[in-house]
Amino acid sequence: MRILIKGGTIVTATDQYVGDVLVEDERITTIGVSLDIAADRVIDASGKYVLPGGIDCHTHLDMPFGGTTSADDFESGTIAAAFGGTTSIVDFAIQYKGQTLHHAWETWMRKAEGRATIDYGFHMIITELTDQVECEMDDLVRQGVTSFKLFMAYPGVFMLDDATIFRALLRTGKNGGTICMHAENGGVIDVLVRKALAEGHTAPKYHALTRPARAEAEATHRAIAMAEIADVPIYIVHLSAAEALEMVTEARDRGLPAYAETCPQYLFLSYDNYEEPGFDGAKYVMSPPLRPKEGQDRLWRGLAFNDLQAISTDHCPFCMKEQKTLGRDDFSKIPNGAPGIETRMSLVYDGGVRTGRISLNRFVELTSTSPAKIFGLFPRKGTIAPGSDADIVIFDPIRASTLSARTLHMKVDYNPYEGRQVTGVSETVLSRGRVIIDNGTFTGRAGGGNFLKRAERRL
Ligand code: URP
Ligand code: ZN
Ligand code: ZN
Repeated sequence: MRILIKGGTIVTATDQYVGDVLVEDERITTIGVSLDIAADRVIDASGKYVLPGGIDCHTHLDMPFGGTTSADDFESGTIAAAFGGTTSIVDFAIQYKGQTLHHAWETWMRKAEGRATIDYGFHMIITELTDQVECEMDDLVRQGVTSFKLFMAYPGVFMLDDATIFRALLRTGKNGGTICMHAENGGVIDVLVRKALAEGHTAPKYHALTRPARAEAEATHRAIAMAEIADVPIYIVHLSAAEALEMVTEARDRGLPAYAETCPQYLFLSYDNYEEPGFDGAKYVMSPPLRPKEGQDRLWRGLAFNDLQAISTDHCPFCMKEQKTLGRDDFSKIPNGAPGIETRMSLVYDGGVRTGRISLNRFVELTSTSPAKIFGLFPRKGTIAPGSDADIVIFDPIRASTLSARTLHMKVDYNPYEGRQVTGVSETVLSRGRVIIDNGTFTGRAGGGNFLKRAERRL
């Protein structure tokens, strides 16, 4: 099967030029100007950007959490991702206490197999680190599960103590894995939550008021300090607070390999959303929480100047009906998370590139190339180059769209950006050479996505 994409503006993290891309079977084989090659299908991309498929390195599909399960499974979640121009995800498999890492990995492989419409990899969430589990970490890295998420929050559920975190960090120094850290001081937050509830504060906004930015900054600083002592890189997930970014910036200025991602919700939504009437603040209950609007410019500067290296979504959708309402009388029982897998590329293009906050190349870097490099997928993914997988987005930079739960494809009954207009839309999407979104229509299939065996750390 040959597909020739003609006349588009090819954009990578470093280049921007008008050209043609020839796709043969699953790969890009030729890039040139006015290619005169017979193909089974020719796609006219003139006036459009030809981008490497988005890579969302932080999703939670079909994930049990807070007494319920995230609303998108690997089929609905990856269909939505594809509509939004994302062609690879890295999701999280959870090791529950008493379980092996291999059991967790197999469990999540079964959730994805036969359902995922785009390629998928896994990070492993470690909740218990025995000697045997340490050995399993080495094996998982060899098998392509090369990153591990640890929690400094959620005591009694996911949280690990510093000694355990330090042991895991040391282990990655030997096995080439990467630690991804949920950096919030869980002990402090737990006390604040109990105090708020004892004082009768049950509304959703208390989720944010009991998770101060300083608790994120402190944990971010501690995580980086432990990684420095262990002499290994560290990747901070879903960084939300300007105060936490300061910790990353300070470390990077000292030459430490500290990396961090942020998410669209922290760039476009703010604490003010928790003040929406009634129980609507629950739509935005996620951890870390949304922060004051004033911090957003600092996050954008961090993205522009490489103190933040990636934009992921932390897609973890729960419906308002029957899921978020579990916490109607107690904010601490609201399942944490929000939808975002489908809206990332358009939001960041519209709010980042069109406003001049980041360049077009940096947009590609943050949404595709840099996650591919950090998580062992580059150059197979994350760029448009001969030999790379033909994961390609034909992106219309001038078409406008209104974000709404009614028209988006995520299986959740609200959208945090309801009614927001964005300019810049993914129009046609290829996943390993197959057209899976054809001018706005889904043409992929459940099970079309493959497990991504990722390479160990090179950074
Ligand atoms: O609120 C969030 N972020 N839910 C998903 C779990 C996590 O900590 O990433
Ligand atoms: Zn987290
Ligand atoms: Zn998450």
